[in-house]
Amino acid sequence: MTLPRFDARDFAAATPDMIAAFARDGVLVLENYASAAECNAMKAQMAEITTGFDPDAHRTVFSATADEPSRDRYFLDSATDIRFFFEAGALDAQGNLTRPLNVAINKVGHALHTLDPVFSAFSNSEKMMGLAKALGHAQPDPVQSMYIFKQPEIGGEVVCHQDATYLWTEPQSVLGFWLAVEDATEENGCMWAIPGAHVGDAPKERFRRTGDTGTYTETLDATPFEEEKKVPLAVPKGTLIVLHGLLPHLSGPNLSPRSRHAYTVHVVDGAAHYPADNWLQRA
Ligand code: FE2
Repeated sequence: MTLPRFDARDFAAATPDMIAAFARDGVLVLENYASAAECNAMKAQMAEITTGFDPDAHRTVFSATADEPSRDRYFLDSATDIRFFFEAGALDAQGNLTRPLNVAINKVGHALHTLDPVFSAFSNSEKMMGLAKALGHAQPDPVQSMYIFKQPEIGGEVVCHQDATYLWTEPQSVLGFWLAVEDATEENGCMWAIPGAHVGDAPKERFRRTGDTGTYTETLDATPFEEEKKVPLAVPKGTLIVLHGLLPHLSGPNLSPRSRHAYTVHVVDGAAHYPADNWLQRA
């Protein structure tokens, strides 16, 4: 099937057609949501942030030989910080970088939307909050952000999952706003999704925090996702893809010579209950 695409060049508010498409498909594709200038500004800002990062200061954290609690602590504390996570293919067995830093990072997260002025402006805009309200939120609350590099040749795959697994609320409310900062193609690891699979579904897994540094994944439904029904979401730079929290989605590895930068914000409804054992805690 081919998903509808909407031109959001002069986007002011979600139209009934957009709302209907999202309810049916669990995914909404808004081309030209961000201008080329906005995308370039985010890319430049991330280059600046990356320049200020000293990988040696965190060498043990990223070392393959680092102990688990140390790595978990670094991850859990990224909820309220700007932290760096490497591509698996960028480290050797001793945990040393095998390539320049700017082409070794997998992602930066998870509080760009509160701590960085460029990403904060985009993530908390009236435009985005209005869109979240149109798609069902009473009180849109951006809780998590990531800049994903999907580096040339080593960009790792993201296996099929539902975002509700990681940002559980009662009732389920998480929305994923995924912006193509660069063109996303099948060659460089674009998003894929299973349209309509959110309807009547529930999260198959729940990622929970345990104790001070631990996490575990609870299996709720062992039925596999129907990945044979997935469709590619190859989109040009500036396109916003909105994902329902129960919609299964994934992205392949990037084996191409071109990067595939994206910025993603996850928004929950502040009116829903946010459990104390979600991995991401802001207080
Ligand atoms: Fe996701």
